[in-house]
Amino acid sequence: MDLVEAIESAGTCRFYKSDPVPDSVLSKAFDAARFGPQGGNRQPVRWVVVRDPATKTQLKLWYLQPWRAYIANARKGAISFSGASRLLDAADHFANHLDEVPAIVVVCAEIASLHVTDPDFDRPSVVGGASIYPSVQNFLLACRALGLGTALTTLLCAFEPQVKDLLSIPAGFLTAAHIAIGYPARPFPKKLQRHPVEGMVFAEKFGTPPIAK
Ligand SMILES: Cc1cc2nc3c(=O)[nH]c(=O)nc-3n(C[C@H](O)[C@H](O)[C@H](O)COP(=O)(O)O)c2cc1C
Repeated sequence: MDLVEAIESAGTCRFYKSDPVPDSVLSKAFDAARFGPQGGNRQPVRWVVVRDPATKTQLKLWYLQPWRAYIANARKGAISFSGASRLLDAADHFANHLDEVPAIVVVCAEIASLHVTDPDFDRPSVVGGASIYPSVQNFLLACRALGLGTALTTLLCAFEPQVKDLLSIPAGFLTAAHIAIGYPARPFPKKLQRHPVEGMVFAEKFGTPPIAK
């Protein structure tokens, strides 16, 4: 599959077939994931594949707590959600059926191996994530190329202590994302909805006219 085609169509999948995802397929995606860049090539990312029904049910119960607050606010218009109510309905369906997704991959990272260069500013530190999420995106794109649907989520990160305990994730590791995976029950989107490049890219100084097409 063409790389750009995969990038443009690797949408968030919220409806899954019940067919299991074979290890042989998943392992190809993990193989691709590890080629993501990371500070000092320290390779901090670890993945836990959850298929056990009881474990998935527990993850769903934790997920539903922030999700219910989020969707109530989104439906009131109290928080912005870029999308139609159809999208919210799909995300709500996803939340309520999270335990039925064939696999949930918990993304972990070794904290001591993150090269954090922005810890002292009066804003959230994000640079540690730069050694994690490129590998995560590689994984999502590889899944897309293999015909697997995925949904990257972070709501469960608020339950990191509980998730670490549940999955025996050692001290010194954090949880960075939870990825639902399975064969999609609906066709992949042709092209995702995103703002145009104009207004996002500047020449030399922020705010100057964009580079030419
Ligand atoms: C950091 C992050 C957290 C997200 N968390 C959730 C989530 O908890 N639940 C969910 O249904 N989707 C989640 N998403 C998916 C986004 O809602 C989705 O990417 C966005 O609406 C654009 O839709 P698309 O990926 O299908 O184009 C998350 C995406 C990102 C990047």
